[in-house]
Amino acid sequence: MNTSRKISNDLWYVGASDRRLALFENMMPIPSGTSYNSYVLIDEKTVLLDTVDQAVGAQFMENLTAVLAGRVLDYIVVHHVEPDHLASLTEVLVRWPNAVIVCSLQASRFMKQFMDIPEHVQFQIVKEGDSLNTGKHTLSFVGAQMVHWPEVLVSYDTTDKVLFSADAFGTFGALNGNLYADEVNFDREWMYEARRYYTNIVGKYGMQVQNLLKKAATLDIAMICPLHGPIWRKDFGKFIEKYDKWSRYEPEDKEVLVIYGSMYGHTESVATVLSGMLADKGCRNVRMYDVSATHVSYLVSESFRCSHIVLVAPTYNGGLYPPMENYLLDIKAHLLQNRTFTVIENGSWAPVSGNAVKAILGEMKNTTVLEPAITFKSAMKETQRAELEALADAIVASLF
Ligand code: FEO
Repeated sequence: MNTSRKISNDLWYVGASDRRLALFENMMPIPSGTSYNSYVLIDEKTVLLDTVDQAVGAQFMENLTAVLAGRVLDYIVVHHVEPDHLASLTEVLVRWPNAVIVCSLQASRFMKQFMDIPEHVQFQIVKEGDSLNTGKHTLSFVGAQMVHWPEVLVSYDTTDKVLFSADAFGTFGALNGNLYADEVNFDREWMYEARRYYTNIVGKYGMQVQNLLKKAATLDIAMICPLHGPIWRKDFGKFIEKYDKWSRYEPEDKEVLVIYGSMYGHTESVATVLSGMLADKGCRNVRMYDVSATHVSYLVSESFRCSHIVLVAPTYNGGLYPPMENYLLDIKAHLLQNRTFTVIENGSWAPVSGNAVKAILGEMKNTTVLEPAITFKSAMKETQRAELEALADAIVASLF
C-alpha cells in the first residue's frame, strides 16, 4: 500500500521506517527503530531527493511510483551516499534509466565504489553555489563536507524555503504517523535519541557542523527535511541551539555522570556511595551507568550532555578493564572535550587502571582531572570514606 505523505503543494514524503533493525550501522541499538527519509518534488521536472535503505526499498518504490503517477523521473539528487540512503538507487535506475543523478564529484566516485552504475546513466556534478532549476523551484546546493561523510551536500529550495539537510538534524526513531517534530513531544520522547544519533554519528565532526550552521544561518528556512526522523516546520531554533552546543562540545547540563565497571560489585558499591554523597551535597540528576551493561552509544551521548564525569574502574590483565577502555577510546574518537573528570581505580594486587584512564584523558582536549584520585584494593574499607568525601567535595566545588 502506498504510504507516501504530501508535505506541500509540490513536495512528498516517500521514505519509510524500519522497526525490525536491531543495530544501526550494525553497532548502535535502535529500540525505537529508524526512518529513512526520501522526498519527491513534483514540478515541471520531477526530482527524487535521496533513496532509502534496502530494508524498506519495496515500500519506497511503491511510494515513489504512486507519487510520480505515471510521470518520468527526471532527476535524482543524492546528498549523501551512505547505503542507508543510497541502497535503493539501483532499483530506481532500473525503473527510470534516464534519470540524471545530481551529486557532488566525490559522491559520484563513492557511488561507483558501492555499486555498478550502468554506463548510460548521466551525472550532473554540482558543488556549493550551483543550483538546479526544476520549473517553479530551484534547489541551491550547499557544501556540508563531513556531516557526516566527505561528499555530503545539502540543498535549499529557494521557492518554498525548504532545507534538505541530509544527516544533519536527524534522529533515531521510526516515524509513527506524525511526520512533523511539532506533532510529537520532541523534548520528552525524541531529544534523548536525537542526541544519541548526533553524538555517535556526527559527534566527531563538530567543526564541520559549525560550518554548516553558519551557512544555514544565512538562509531563510521554513522547513528542514532531514534523512532520519521527523520534519521540522516550526520552533526549530531550540534544536539548532542543541546542535550548536553539541558541535562546540559544550555540556548541556552541569550534572554528574558516574560510569563504573565492576566484576563482583565492590567497585559498584564505591560508585554508589560516591553518588549518594554527591546527592547529599546538593547534586541533582546524578546518573550512574554500568559500563558493561550499557551500550557505549548511550554513554557517548550522556558524556556529551554532562559537564562532570566520574570514572570508577578496576584493573584487568595489568591494564584497564576492557569495557571502560572501549568507552574512553570512543569518547576520545568523538573528540569529546571541555569536561571535568574524576578517577577512582581498583586493583587487587597492582592497581594501574587509574593511570591508564588518565593516559587516555591526557590525549583529549581541554579535560580537567580533579584531585584527589583514589586508589583502593579489592573492596573499599570504611577507613577510606573520608577520601571519598573529599572527592565529592572537590566535584561539588567545581560544579557550583
Ligand atoms: Fe544516515 Fe550517514 O547516513
